[in-house]
Amino acid sequence: MKKPCIVCVVGTRPDTIKMAPVIRELRRFDSVETVIVATGQHREMMDQALAAFDLKADRDLAIMQHGQTLAQITCRSLEGLDAILDELKPAFVVGQGDTSTTFVAGLAAFYRQIPYAHVEAGLRTPSIHSPFPEEFNRRACGLVADIHFPPTEESADNLRREGKPEADILVTGNTGIDAVLHVAAQAGEAWFPEHEGRVVLLTTHRRENWGEPQAAIARAALSVVESHPDVLLVAPMHRNPVVRETLTGILGQHTRVRLIEPPDYAPFVQLLKRANLALTDSGGVQEEAPSFGVPVLVLRETTERPEGVDAGVAKLVGADESRIIAEANRLLDDPEAYSQMARSQSPYGDGQAAARIRYEILRRIGVPSEPASPWIFSKPSSTESSKV
Ligand code: UD1
Ligand code: UDP
Repeated sequence: MKKPCIVCVVGTRPDTIKMAPVIRELRRFDSVETVIVATGQHREMMDQALAAFDLKADRDLAIMQHGQTLAQITCRSLEGLDAILDELKPAFVVGQGDTSTTFVAGLAAFYRQIPYAHVEAGLRTPSIHSPFPEEFNRRACGLVADIHFPPTEESADNLRREGKPEADILVTGNTGIDAVLHVAAQAGEAWFPEHEGRVVLLTTHRRENWGEPQAAIARAALSVVESHPDVLLVAPMHRNPVVRETLTGILGQHTRVRLIEPPDYAPFVQLLKRANLALTDSGGVQEEAPSFGVPVLVLRETTERPEGVDAGVAKLVGADESRIIAEANRLLDDPEAYSQMARSQSPYGDGQAAARIRYEILRRIGVPSEPASPWIFSKPSSTESSKV
């Protein structure tokens, strides 16, 4: 008899990194066939992410084009995924997070009436327009999902408020923490051994920050470097040409600024560990930094990840130039303010999210496996530390 098939859909850097632990966990079980279907919404960045976990796509729609529009990503992925789902007839489709790939995976599964499991479910901001289009994407995934895997109680509560049945909600922790624990254990690259001072890490790519907000972020980062002679600013640049143009235009000339190609995942995590401060609009970096006690200034007006802010290890500063400068300077100049934020504590996960997800998906298709312990994720209390 044919084994039940589970299709895990990936397409961009973050959904691939966060899906990888789930794929690896499902693949421990020979009684199911776990198939990696890639939309290829990202090219180099998705390939880097798969390689970090020794994975390869079984099917790759290779849809990426430079300057692609949201509609083009959606149409090309939907058509390609539909054909693959028709051929494979999986028992489950699994999608992660809030990218267009993930939204289309949910839609394709819904059209074919195949159960859909949504990993990192329930993150919400008050406005469907921010972050754009991710807030729409994850709400849409929530509409079609048969199982929701929220990372935290906060995200589970968002789903409860929307009336999702309690039986379909399992609080797992974020699989991104499983991923970061996996690579942080590997031998690391020594970043900037010649630089004895502090490192400030900058990553910015969000669509709503394109243009003037990103320029304001870059000017603020430049000001911070100029006023701190011991600081090296390191900015791994997203491959999007829109982002690169702004960053190189403003930051390209300074001797203590390194604009670098996006490192592979494991070296990037070593760079994050080396950093004294992270300025970022990335969702994943926001979640990873507290694992290493790196304070985060979040370059966004709202965050669907309130846990870091509540724990006092992250602060929302938007794309407001003077606010970014003031907050960064405060952290770099005031050791007490710094040590209050530089606590190694992850409110996002305990490294067992993928095991919880695997157990529940397999249970639903009648394949017994051992449950994770504890059965659901609960955050460490504020006095506990979980340094990686
Ligand atoms: C996408 C996601 C966003 C996620 C981000 C992570 C959507 C709508 N957006 O945004 O939620 O936070 O990925 O990075 O799903 N490019 C390359 N090579 C790559 C990747 C991108 O050249 O490996 C360039 C291409 O010119 C591409 C452009 O970047 O057209 C934008 O990529 P796209 O996936 O449309 O949007 P992101 O801004 O990357
Ligand atoms: N990351 C990486 N190399 C980089 C920058 C980020 O491997 O140069 C990793 C990072 O550790 C995190 C993920 O990519 O796991 C975040 O991706 P991104 O910021 O592109 O997307 P978001 O999380 O904002 O959706």
